Amino acid sequence: MPATPGLVGVILAGGSGSRLYPCTKVTNKHLLPIGDMPMIFYPLKKLVGAGITDILIVTGTEHMGDFISLLGSGKDFGCRLTYRVQDDAGGIAQALALAERFANGQPMCVILGDNIFEDSIKDTIGIFMKDPSAAHIILKEVPDAERFGVAIINGNRITKIIEKPDEPPTQLAVTGIYCYPGDVFDIIKGLKPSARNELEITDVNNEYIGAGRLGYSMFDGYWSDAGTFSSLAKANELVRSATPNF
Ligand code: DAU
Repeated sequence: MPATPGLVGVILAGGSGSRLYPCTKVTNKHLLPIGDMPMIFYPLKKLVGAGITDILIVTGTEHMGDFISLLGSGKDFGCRLTYRVQDDAGGIAQALALAERFANGQPMCVILGDNIFEDSIKDTIGIFMKDPSAAHIILKEVPDAERFGVAIINGNRITKIIEKPDEPPTQLAVTGIYCYPGDVFDIIKGLKPSARNELEITDVNNEYIGAGRLGYSMFDGYWSDAGTFSSLAKANELVRSATPNF
């Protein structure tokens, strides 16, 4: 895949991994195995497969050295890696804020490091790059939507996203693959911490909805997060059932 000029990649691999304790006591969640690779390889290969070769990895202080030992400059993956430390796990939007200087006004594709999915992101990137002034997310119908951001849809527009609702109004989970224009950092600067004291990516997406600038696609293939023991086991089963398209 030729490089996509003017588009950068961001992998968010911070957080405490508390739901996978004690497996995350001495390592980071994104270094645990999925199939025959460390988890972080999957988002990395997805970005490179879509022609995104300038990639920032954000993680915490404890295991940054391990990420650098594992991934190095990125040359083995055909990309150029930059690293930034998130001092405290203050939320996905806080982690993304660390990408501001790296992105330098360019549009970006952000992947949560624990999201494992089958489809290539090439088509989504193609749609996003036709109008990179609008954000773009990917939805997937799931049986356990209460675990995720949940989208309400009217016609072909998302009208609202609710973070982990007790009673999900739809089964449409917001996956951890987000395409944003360079102005996402202005939105993050205006956010207030949520009840769980994090800067929420759902609040960012709702701002784009309010501005009429949020498009979406649907995943056809499988998708799972891998942040709990059951979802980690599920992600392992899924990649064994079918190798993801990178
Ligand atoms: O997986 C998709 C879901 O991810 C979305 O549907 C939700 O809207 C979104 O809030 C998020 O939900 P979780 O609460 O399950 O996310 P979690 O805290 O598990 O973090 C997911 C990844 O984000 C994690 O693998 C690393 C990164 N992260 C997270 C936090 C809280 C960071 O890099 N820094 C952070 O401070």
